[in-house]
Amino acid sequence: MKKVLILGGAGFIGYNILRYLAERRDYELTAADDFSSGARDGDLEVLCAKYKIRLITADFSKPDAYRQLDPRYDEVYVLASVVGVNRCIEEPEEVIRVNTAIIHYTTEWLRTAKPSRVLFASSSENYAATTETFNYPVPTAENVPLCIADTRHPRFTYAATKILGEAAFFAYGQRLGIHTTVVRYQNIYGPRMGFKHAIPHIIERIRKGENPVKIYGADQTRSFCFCTDGAEGTVLALESDGSDQQVYHIGNSDEITIETLTRTIGAAMGYAGSYENAQTYPGSVSRRCPGIAKARRDFGYDPRVSLEEGIGKTVAWYRAFFDAGSPITTGGFKPPEALQYRKDL
Ligand SMILES: NC(=O)c1ccc[n+]([C@@H]2O[C@H](COP(=O)([O-])OP(=O)(O)OC[C@H]3O[C@@H](n4cnc5c(N)ncnc54)[C@H](O)[C@@H]3O)[C@@H](O)[C@H]2O)c1
Repeated sequence: MKKVLILGGAGFIGYNILRYLAERRDYELTAADDFSSGARDGDLEVLCAKYKIRLITADFSKPDAYRQLDPRYDEVYVLASVVGVNRCIEEPEEVIRVNTAIIHYTTEWLRTAKPSRVLFASSSENYAATTETFNYPVPTAENVPLCIADTRHPRFTYAATKILGEAAFFAYGQRLGIHTTVVRYQNIYGPRMGFKHAIPHIIERIRKGENPVKIYGADQTRSFCFCTDGAEGTVLALESDGSDQQVYHIGNSDEITIETLTRTIGAAMGYAGSYENAQTYPGSVSRRCPGIAKARRDFGYDPRVSLEEGIGKTVAWYRAFFDAGSPITTGGFKPPEALQYRKDL
């Protein structure tokens, strides 16, 4: 039976990949995570018990953690990472420390573990500045150059580590003869996505009675991909025979404005009040949308869940979560005006 490890398996996307594999494949699954983020709602524990998934709790930014892993896995998904704009802006040194340590120790561990395949989770942040600065087309293909607009700005620490990760995994994969694939996600969303992203934040604000509801960066465009589509795309990318040394954009190429997103959430919640435009994050790009033609061509990736359906499911989950009196466990979301950082950069 194939042995599969998901590093960062307790996280939002990790949980969805675990669930996808557990329900559709006959694999021996292990999830490893330090539980520094992600909703502690019991769903993961239920899934693990039902499908006999092994759960390892350890901090993989420390070398000792790797001793808890089995000597051999067939496939490894590397999702563990510090994520979120707020963490970058407020704790950039921690983003650098944790993300580079995980990249370093995991790639070194590959020398002995030698799985057949490995996948590294990267981000559309890597090309966000490219499209803005050099006018590359949006939706954006995988082969555009990656770009950091300003190394002094803490916002870009995350992208800097993700660019390092892509290069590191490809280099070790080539050297060690391991089938290596990178996926760059953009705005995967859905139930259990935590509290640090725009979608749960909008839900939370409407629930708390904000009126008018602020729309941060109303005209900016993004695209949003429901988590089950994102999980399927990730598994197909790793399992595709042609994906060695390849990058794939995993997201949805339907580009919408933040205003449309906010109003869609408002409609799903029955919100009848008004909206007002507000300033968005420093360094936030005006357009971003992944081109997914390569993933479609190579392994038939085809996101199916519409925005209305996905937002409906997400709103229902957050409503039930808050109605049950469950606490926000991961520090919550801060609007741009509440962030502490050097504004002269
Ligand atoms: N969600 C998105 O839209 C999106 C977009 C771009 C990239 N990504 C990337 O996809 C991956 C998964 O993202 P997610 O949205 O599920 O985020 P997430 O925060 O829910 O998942 C990351 C997981 O890594 C774990 N982790 C962090 N530090 C760790 C450590 N030192 N040791 C062990 N585990 C640790 C966290 O506890 C968490 O469970 C990340 O690498 C992220 O950078 C996600």
